Amino acid sequence: MHETLESETVEPLLRGRFGRPYLYARRCQSTQLELDEHAPEGAVAVCELQTAGRGRLGRHWEAPEGTAIHCSVALRPPPGRRVAELTLLAAVAVTEAIEAVARVVPLIKWPNDVLLDARKLAGILGELRGGTVVLGIGINVNQTQQQLPADARRPPASLRTITRREHDRAPLLAALLFGLEQRYDAWLEHGLDALHHELEQRDFLRGREVRVDGVTGRASGIDSLGRLELDVDGERRVVESGEVSY
Ligand code: BTN
Repeated sequence: MHETLESETVEPLLRGRFGRPYLYARRCQSTQLELDEHAPEGAVAVCELQTAGRGRLGRHWEAPEGTAIHCSVALRPPPGRRVAELTLLAAVAVTEAIEAVARVVPLIKWPNDVLLDARKLAGILGELRGGTVVLGIGINVNQTQQQLPADARRPPASLRTITRREHDRAPLLAALLFGLEQRYDAWLEHGLDALHHELEQRDFLRGREVRVDGVTGRASGIDSLGRLELDVDGERRVVESGEVSY
């Protein structure tokens, strides 16, 4: 597949405010570095190849040129809002866009991974620059199994490895940006309540034995503040952030 995410391909598919301006480069270090704190809300940076793509916790995020979606979106939430909720919001928007375009049902592994068949398909990285949140989203789309990172603790997936066909990235990106905007607008008005049903439906960890920050327990859900709820020997505990293994 030789499609690109150039503006001529993507801009005609955009349905809302997000993606304007649409900053495209074939190659960049990281789309996270293409947006600074002055970027207008809804500005989006996209690259075909990141030479220094960033994952959470200082990890790398890589994909061969033209195989994945690498994008960053600038958001300027009002002061005082819990910006950590935006990664959950992005995770919901990613799962919904993938489901709409590829007819598969991804789940969310709290706080910001998207899984399909229990394999990581997408990741989200939120970074704060002044009052601007730069929300980075990486979706594995057309990588073959050999092109996916082999060093991960659990082997990741792409849409291609799971559905056994390639997917056009531009409609997926456009669906993602429109869904993200709708979810964001609802969050501005109603907070995380606007997402809670979807988070519950797509909670991969619920009912699983997990370990996070040295605590082991059974995940029982995501609470109204976006925290992970654990049942630890019959006692309810909540976790604000962290890396969950299961
Ligand atoms: C993770 O799961 O560790 C988060 C991965 C986030 C990757 C995306 S790709 C687009 C944006 N640019 C980056 O350098 N990282 C994010």
